[in-house]
Amino acid sequence: MKFPFEIAAFDGQARTGTLKTPRGDIRTPAFMPVGTAGTVKGVYMDQVRAAGADIILGNTYHLMLRPGAERVKRLGGLHKFGGWDGPILTDSGGFQVWSLSKLRKMSEQGVEFQSHHDGSKHMLSPERSIEIQADLLGADISMQLDECTEFPSPYDAAAKSMELSLRWGQRSLAAFGERDSQTLFAIVQGSTFPELRKMSAEASVAEATAGGYGGFAIGGLAVGEGHDAMCETIDVTVPYLPKDRPRYLMGVGKPVDLVEAVARGVDMFDCVIPTRSGRHGQVWTDAGPYNIKRAEFAEDQSPLDASFNVACSTDYSKAYVHHLIRSGELLGAMLLSWHNIAYFEDLMARMRAAIAAGEFEAFRKTFHAGMVKS
Ligand code: GUN
Repeated sequence: MKFPFEIAAFDGQARTGTLKTPRGDIRTPAFMPVGTAGTVKGVYMDQVRAAGADIILGNTYHLMLRPGAERVKRLGGLHKFGGWDGPILTDSGGFQVWSLSKLRKMSEQGVEFQSHHDGSKHMLSPERSIEIQADLLGADISMQLDECTEFPSPYDAAAKSMELSLRWGQRSLAAFGERDSQTLFAIVQGSTFPELRKMSAEASVAEATAGGYGGFAIGGLAVGEGHDAMCETIDVTVPYLPKDRPRYLMGVGKPVDLVEAVARGVDMFDCVIPTRSGRHGQVWTDAGPYNIKRAEFAEDQSPLDASFNVACSTDYSKAYVHHLIRSGELLGAMLLSWHNIAYFEDLMARMRAAIAAGEFEAFRKTFHAGMVKS
């Protein structure tokens, strides 16, 4: 099925609304914390929820290898297994095979790869990816299997790769069929070539198998092209996507990327930055990230961020978190992952409010000037 998507307000290209799923509403623009292996690393699910997340992401690649998708199914599905009763979107696996697995062999059939854990051999086809995501894990939103095109790629190679993703998309849709309470998103590829992005988007939108896609992702970005090329690619893709369906920019990004993509009409995001950089001592703020390990924080008794009404940000001093991270203490990584997720979710909430008030341009300017909270 296509989940109802109610757009409450536009401001330029930016829009805010609600994607209504049987497991709850997703307020857009939305940031999805990454819960790769059934956990948002270092953060309790109730903290993720309280931080403002409506939906989290899970990964086919990791879960099929460990603990195994059939085992997750026997244990009641990913929602029950991981203790998250809200919506879950799963990535289809191709991108993680591309970035993590040891050996991979692409064919029309799918991708054969060796696990990065133990070297065991596996096959991921569009049909198997859908079976894992929709039937075994029980994802609310599944993604088509795609190939993330290498960057940079010559035009011909990017065209071939994009066409393979289109054929895998057709097979993913056919395998998905008609479902009452789950949906499938397409992934637009085409590297940074405007013609290829247009062809990929138009073909995905026209795909009528089983009633078509419930949403459209922009893949193949944040792979080394840089912020400006990413924005230009979004600009040449969005006009070919339906206005009334959610648009999801995969694997993005830093706060500045989120603000600029929202300005261009993107509705959903996922990224490991808040948790991964938190584990390394980074604290995200409107002025950019700073590292709590820096010597100047050794005796700084001010809270991590007094402006958030979240315990991690108000109840622990910079000096304490500095000590925890420097000592390799687990709690340091947990507090900063929690704070960073709260920061990213708060940024999305401020963008939603600004769009609803017709003040997004002013928000964007202030954000860039680094003065939003001054
Ligand atoms: N995550 C980030 N980029 C991509 C992409 O191009 N494809 C998929 N499936 N996932 C991604």
